[in-house]
Amino acid sequence: MTTPTTTASKVLDTLAADRPGQIERLIDWLKIPSISTDPAYRDHTRRAAAWAAEHLCGAGLKVELMETGGIGTDGVGSGHPVVLGTANPDAPGPHILFYGHYDVQPADPLELWESGPFEPVIRPAEGEVGERIVARGACDDKGQVATFLEALRAWYGVTGKPAGGVRMTVLLEGEEESGSVNLDRFLEQHADRFRSCDACLISDTGMLGRERPAITYGVRGLVYTEVRLHGANQDLHSGLWGGRAPNPNNELAKVLARLWDGDRRVTIPGFYDDVRPISAEERAAWSRLGCDAGDALSKIGLGPEADEPSGEAGFSAIEREWARPTADINGLFGGYAGAGAKTVIPAWAGAKVSFRLVADQSPAKVEAAFFEWCRARTPAGCRWEFVSHSGGNPATVRTDSELLKAAAEAVRRATGVAPAMIKSGGSIPVAGTLKSLLGLETIFMGFGLDDDRVHSPNEKFELRCFEWGARSHALFIDALRRKAGVE
Ligand code: BES
Ligand code: MN
Ligand code: MN
Repeated sequence: MTTPTTTASKVLDTLAADRPGQIERLIDWLKIPSISTDPAYRDHTRRAAAWAAEHLCGAGLKVELMETGGIGTDGVGSGHPVVLGTANPDAPGPHILFYGHYDVQPADPLELWESGPFEPVIRPAEGEVGERIVARGACDDKGQVATFLEALRAWYGVTGKPAGGVRMTVLLEGEEESGSVNLDRFLEQHADRFRSCDACLISDTGMLGRERPAITYGVRGLVYTEVRLHGANQDLHSGLWGGRAPNPNNELAKVLARLWDGDRRVTIPGFYDDVRPISAEERAAWSRLGCDAGDALSKIGLGPEADEPSGEAGFSAIEREWARPTADINGLFGGYAGAGAKTVIPAWAGAKVSFRLVADQSPAKVEAAFFEWCRARTPAGCRWEFVSHSGGNPATVRTDSELLKAAAEAVRRATGVAPAMIKSGGSIPVAGTLKSLLGLETIFMGFGLDDDRVHSPNEKFELRCFEWGARSHALFIDALRRKAGVE
């Protein structure tokens, strides 16, 4: 067992002494509505980038605000900027790339928020929920990024060196919540800046439970599509035309209902071809984690009877979330959905259909197979229109690397609990890109909780999660210093 070096203890003391300052700074950042998907928030999103750049400067890093997307004659990009920070480029390795995102999801439905989404408040503990900061982005991902920024700041304060003297690159993206549309190109164009990195570190995932910190070693991929089924060239009276002309609502519902078989397996040919099976060791390890599907369902207002029929037969809830692909209709629209009744056969119907993918499935391949599957089932008299939205590769990382072990040890020292090794059903597209472009493994060291309401009204981050995050990052930097021989 290793004990913190004196310098690391000083860093932890600095963090402990300055809690109010850390929260105040996070509040400042959370006030900026950096909703990347909505063009109306473009300037705000840029302000959130500038805020992060300033914070990194304050921690002694060299910082660039880099444009993304097509660059106009004014030098401004069509995308949201990347904040790129550099510490000690000439120091000996290891060289960690920290990735996070400063953009957030839209705040709607606004009426369900107990306080303004961009007016952060601290709420006292109630029941098992601890003292927390409530705002859009509190957990996903500004709060989690802030735990890392504060660790950097503390190391700079104590040692006078950025990142305590270790080599580090920080990349903060402003488009994660809107599909990272410009990120792959950015990484390709600037690959030289990242080539010497040894691993990527991301704090954008969760823990296994309140007392159970975790390292995540896999996230799912995503392909998000929209399909529209067109019938007649106009809406029709359902009395005059029902039974005479195809009803796209009926037909779309019938086609999409065939996406799953009786065991709730996706029926697209080849869908499971590239799915990496769950090993017997993994199965056993996951079942030892003691996750209870019924417990989890009870927190979202469902009874235990909802478990089995919700997913693929033959797998536990955890297995289905972590290691099996899914298909989901996220939205279904067509015809009349307003108040009262209107008799109509709509000209078209549509659906937003997404697939969560696992290693080694390919988003492009699954998307093509899905569109082909639809085409082969085109209802007579109808035609399809297909739209591709965002996507991202799944990522499962090695659990035996020295850096991941060092991160796990840092979490243990910071929290007093050895982190569980878990996977997550969510997606963080950059991890797949870094792996395929640069061969980089990612360490997902996140401190969210299942009930943080990410993407929902009243999103929160508990102050203890914040504290655990800041301490863990600080101690990971300590481990890097020892590896690099910078004391
Ligand atoms: N941080 C989340 C993903 C996440 C949450 C992973 C919790 C693991 C645990 C991320 O910001 C997110 O929301 N990703 C999107 C993907 C994207 C392409 C829009 C998702 O998973 O839906
Ligand atoms: Mn996130
Ligand atoms: Mn998110």
